[in-house]
Amino acid sequence: MLSGRRLLITGVVNRKSIAWEVARQAQELGAEVVLTGFGRGRRMTDRAAGQLPTPADVLELDVNKADDIAAVATELESRWGRLDGVLHAIAFAPADALGGEFMNTPPESAELAFRTSAYSLKALTAGLLELLERGEQGGAVVGLDFDATVAWPIYDWMGVSKAALEAVARYVARDVGPRGVRVNLVAAGPLETLAAGGIPGFDQLAEAWRTQAPLGWDTADPGPVAATVCFLLSPAARAITGEILHVDGGFHAMGTAV
Ligand SMILES: NC(=O)c1ccc[n+]([C@@H]2O[C@H](COP(=O)([O-])OP(=O)(O)OC[C@H]3O[C@@H](n4cnc5c(N)ncnc54)[C@H](O)[C@@H]3O)[C@@H](O)[C@H]2O)c1
Repeated sequence: MLSGRRLLITGVVNRKSIAWEVARQAQELGAEVVLTGFGRGRRMTDRAAGQLPTPADVLELDVNKADDIAAVATELESRWGRLDGVLHAIAFAPADALGGEFMNTPPESAELAFRTSAYSLKALTAGLLELLERGEQGGAVVGLDFDATVAWPIYDWMGVSKAALEAVARYVARDVGPRGVRVNLVAAGPLETLAAGGIPGFDQLAEAWRTQAPLGWDTADPGPVAATVCFLLSPAARAITGEILHVDGGFHAMGTAV
């Protein structure tokens, strides 16, 4: 499905990262992948990159730094001369923007959550656009979402940032579509990753899935989410843009526990 495709995968910090499973499946499906990592987590990313079926190179990328995005684009230009797809698997919110203190969160913390988790989809796509335009059968951008049509316990300003991400994805899809680039999100059910571990009370969300997902849901298995990301990165999804695909065991379609 991804034979010969050249993909940039952000958001790998360890083997539990959703992005690591995407990179693994993408390689098995024939893609060539390069990862990104940054700052203090960089060594962990390097280690996880070495544990892929084919060890992958890691480029430095703090998505909030324009210079880092430009340097990644320059490197990919000389390495591949085009980019067939990019996974945006990046989110961050300061501790005081999560965990039930919604009404007390200072604006700086809400802004940082928004900038890192939502605005960054625009920043990354814009920085890589010339390469994506040259992608074979159109370049694909995929981001990772947590259904933002409702308010959740605990999720607070990360939830607001995901609502923004959904809107940003639609606007970017509008602006890059005419250049042959598509933008889609996968709204995943809760998965036990490092980022999820940083959400106090994550178990409360996971518990809801145990009763409300008609297909059931395994919080330890990012496989189904990664498979859908691979589909959206593939030419099979070439007429899909501005879409949000829910990979959540059917949770979002139920009104209450089933
Ligand atoms: N785990 C879940 O339950 C779940 C559910 C739905 C969506 N998601 C989304 O999936 C994505 C990946 O998260 P994950 O759960 O695999 O956790 P993770 O901790 O493995 O990945 C989060 C990644 O974000 C990166 N990141 C944070 N700030 C960054 C910055 N400034 N620049 C570049 N990278 C930065 C981290 O380095 C890390 O690799 C996130 O967007 C998250 O919101 C997760």
